[in-house]
Order: sequence, then C-alpha cells, then structure tokens
Amino acid sequence: MPEYDRFSRFYDAAMDDPGPRADYVSGCIDRYLPAATSLLELGCGTGSILARLTSPTSLTGLDRSTGMLEVARGKVPGARLLEGDMQCFSLGERFDVVISVFDSLNHLLTFDAWQSMFDAVHEHLVDGGLFVFDVNTLGEIRRLGDEPPWVDDFDSGVLIMDVSFAEDESPDLTSQWDIRIFEHVGSSRFDLHHEVIGELGVSLERVKGALEPKFALLEETDENGNTPTDESVKAHFAYRRVP
Ligand SMILES: C[S@@+](CC[C@H](N)C(=O)[O-])C[C@H]1O[C@@H](n2cnc3c(N)ncnc32)[C@H](O)[C@@H]1O
Repeated sequence: MPEYDRFSRFYDAAMDDPGPRADYVSGCIDRYLPAATSLLELGCGTGSILARLTSPTSLTGLDRSTGMLEVARGKVPGARLLEGDMQCFSLGERFDVVISVFDSLNHLLTFDAWQSMFDAVHEHLVDGGLFVFDVNTLGEIRRLGDEPPWVDDFDSGVLIMDVSFAEDESPDLTSQWDIRIFEHVGSSRFDLHHEVIGELGVSLERVKGALEPKFALLEETDENGNTPTDESVKAHFAYRRVP
C-alpha cells in the first residue's frame, strides 16, 4: 500500500490549516506570473491547495497515493487528478506554473530523485514558467527528531507522530515519520492505523545548486519572511524556468 493511503481518510482533519500555503502560492503567481492559466501540483495530496486557488483556471494534480487522490476528487471536481510518481513523470504538455508544497519534495528519499524531479519540472514548464515549492530544512528535521512525539487529539481520534533520523556520512539526512492514528470507533474502542513515511533533508545550498543551471531564483523566504537557512523551519522558493 503506498504511503499516505492509510492516513488519507484522516489527513485533512489532523493536519494544519492549508490556507497559508495556498496564500503563499497565490502571492507568488500574482507577483511573478499573473497571466498564468495552467498549474500542475506535484504531491497534491487531498487537493487542499488546488481547492483554494482562484487562478490559474486549468488545474492538474499528481500524487502517488490512491487514497489521497480519492479525497481530492471530492474536493476539487474541476481539477484533473493523476496518479503517478513526481520523481519521474511525462505528461506530454507544459504548464505556466508547477508547485510542490507542504514538504512534498522531502518525500523523495535520495538527492538523485530530487534532481530527477527538477528535470521533469523543467520539461513541464513553459519558458518563463514559475516553479514554487517548499522544503523542511535539515534543522527542522533534526529538531522534530529530538523532540518528544507530537500528539494531536482531533475529531476522529488521536494522532501520534514520532520523527527519528539517522546521521551518517551522507550530506543528506534520512528521517522516518512514524504515524499512528487511533480512530475512535466506539465508547472506549479505537482502531489503529499505522504508517511510516520517509523524508529526506538536504542543505539549501545543495538544493539551490541543483536548480541553478535551469532556473533563476525569484525569491526565497523562511516561515518569518527572512532569508531561509538550514536552521529555519521551512524554506519557500519561487524560481523562473530559463531555457
Ligand atoms: C505532506 S503531503 C502534501 C499534500 C499537499 N501538497 C498539501 O499541501 O496539503 C505530501 C504528498 O506527497 C505525496 N507524495 C509523496 N511522494 C510522492 C511521489 N514520489 N510522487 C507523487 N506524490 C508523492 C504523498 O502521497 C502526499 O499526498
């Protein structure tokens, strides 16, 4: 079963408000490509971002989890939703904007896979097209790994998320996100749904170096609006495709 399939039914209730993520994407489009008419989201999940975008008008989402896409189909009936792997895909068309947010990129577990996705993004953008994405930084993954598990008491039950990581010779950081959802199914009965999701942390210098030849940086910002570092919580980027 692909990652997120067990989690998909609970994802929207258990996760943060997607509004600020969608606002960031809309802000980048307004600033850098207001005439955009087509957008592709890689790792679109349950469609929370696509559902909040008022432009562009032609929306496509790609995700590898059937369960997440099923939820998305109910939320964004007007979008084209495709099952596939964002590491390597070929849709035979180009878009004005490609986005990948809420650390979807971190879910690719080797830096080669990140580079392969950047190549695919380049192939699917029009000249001058916009690539907007965010990542969990190395510092944030280490902090989450050092902290006690995160517990969320939400409508359908309780979610416990425990992040661990292993340091080795690699410049990148592999982490495992152990997610247990105790679904409340009766007065004192709970069903357990268990997933382990991997995330890779990569230094921002390495990320920017990989993009440089094919994309021009438009803006980079952390969660407070400052220039991001490897110790920020999040790093948000907007790039323009160069031929
Ligand atoms: C943290 S969720 C983000 C969902 C959505 N972007 C949002 O902001 O709510 C990450 C999503 O990436 C998807 N994903 C992970 N690896 C993928 C891959 N190799 N190809 C396509 N989708 C992938 C997962 O199935 C999941 O839906």
